[in-house]
Amino acid sequence: MKPKILMARAVFPDVIARLQQDFEVESNQEDRIFSAAELAEKLRDKDGVIATASERISAELLQASPRLKAVCNQAVGYNNIDVAAATKAGVMVTNTPDVLNETTADFGWALLMATARRVTEAEHWLRAGHWKQWRYDSFLGADVHGATLGVIGMGRIGQAIARRSTGFDMQVVYHNRSRLAPEQEARANNARYVSKEELLATADHVILVLPYSKESHHTIGPAELALMKPGATLVNLARGGIVDDLALIAALRDKKIAAAGLDVFENEPALHPDFLELSNVVLTPHIASASEPTRRAMANCAADNLLAALLPTAERKWPPNLLNPEVLGRVTLS
Ligand code: GLV
Repeated sequence: MKPKILMARAVFPDVIARLQQDFEVESNQEDRIFSAAELAEKLRDKDGVIATASERISAELLQASPRLKAVCNQAVGYNNIDVAAATKAGVMVTNTPDVLNETTADFGWALLMATARRVTEAEHWLRAGHWKQWRYDSFLGADVHGATLGVIGMGRIGQAIARRSTGFDMQVVYHNRSRLAPEQEARANNARYVSKEELLATADHVILVLPYSKESHHTIGPAELALMKPGATLVNLARGGIVDDLALIAALRDKKIAAAGLDVFENEPALHPDFLELSNVVLTPHIASASEPTRRAMANCAADNLLAALLPTAERKWPPNLLNPEVLGRVTLS
């Protein structure tokens, strides 16, 4: 009998076809987000699940899913999963790192450029029919070339963002839980390791690429925004909750910083309505990894992890992106 799995959200049909070769797949191509109760009901008889950030895999859900052996997130971030509870329950947890680094870094730059040069604000104004004549001071923005880029969270995506800044003759400062090796710093446009406070006070453009956790909750709040330069911009492509959105709204409204570019929000997709009233913020719907090849690679990476988790072979002994290796040896595959 094939193991039973749930594909919790819609995905490329060929990925489902691939999974169906080895699994009995319950899919959700209508893409309705399941309530916690529905998810519990669906996982009751499942051996594995491919989840996204919209599925909260809590300790209660894990407890109510006795057959579950693997939760494979189709995202690099995995703050939707209680990994400690999964480990305790003997459930493997995986994510999709690396395959999205370059695409997400590209998008970080798209947001940075759009924010600094007021691209979406100018477009809205044009579409509204306001463009009657050229003016010397229309939509004056901040320069990106020659500026100082501050990267908070210098993991693989942060480094890919920093690498791109060489083409703009920028200086890079970064803050991270730990300092990079000298050769990594060199590759990241000679990035200089500084405290969060120094970064905020010196960077012209700050970009957030750190994972969400209890410790990184509100990494940027009123005190941090107050340290930033008045002409600075802030980009968040990490997770909602890393920025205190209310504090950011106040800072943008009072022009304490020039502008922000946001791909993620607290309580998304129900972002705070005041963002919509502000012209100095670029808003996108959590699409940083959304290129066709990358989203396909993420889906296949999650599938690879699930195959290795539930149907290990000599070549494929464990999931390539296992987040809780402590669990190995405690999982009994039926
Ligand atoms: C997207 O937000 C991801 O974590 O992959």
